[in-house]
Amino acid sequence: MRTAVYPGSFDPMTNGHFDIIGRGTRIFDRVIIAVLENEGKAPLFSVAERMDLLRECTETFPTVEIQSFSGLLVDFMKRVDANVVVRGIRAVSDFEYEFQMALMNRELSSDAETIFMMPAVEYSYVSSRLVKEVFRLGGDIRRLVPLPVLRKLSDRLAMPAHV
Ligand code: PNS
Repeated sequence: MRTAVYPGSFDPMTNGHFDIIGRGTRIFDRVIIAVLENEGKAPLFSVAERMDLLRECTETFPTVEIQSFSGLLVDFMKRVDANVVVRGIRAVSDFEYEFQMALMNRELSSDAETIFMMPAVEYSYVSSRLVKEVFRLGGDIRRLVPLPVLRKLSDRLAMPAHV
């Protein structure tokens, strides 16, 4: 049984995340999406809201589970019996931070292996931060996030979603 953990903030999930989740399910028997409880980052959505959105958007993947974690990722991985971390790499600019995290995780737990996956090229510039910014400013993000996320953003920011 090959279990991978796909950790992140997912505030909120985007089509780029969705793309990576789909790719992960084709390689691993079980993919645990692990939402970081990072209230310090002043997220737009609570952990429970982010988990609900992830659950709704991934219900067609029977091998995907949604969990949350605080503390070290490697400790969470031990608890769920996983030794693979999946992370998406969109551009070379992502690489330096991801490389440092992967090696730090390996330092903390020699079992931890990180697999980098590239999303489809049409999502290579999509990030949760930019999606929120563009939506706040009235831009069209329909192609960039799943419909439940678009609806939730529109409720939260009291703006029309143009769906
Ligand atoms: O989507 P993000 O915000 O880029 O995800 C970052 C995340 C959650 C993968 C990273 O912050 C993390 O793993 N945090 C847990 C704390 C930890 O284990 N830190 C040491 C490893 S670098």
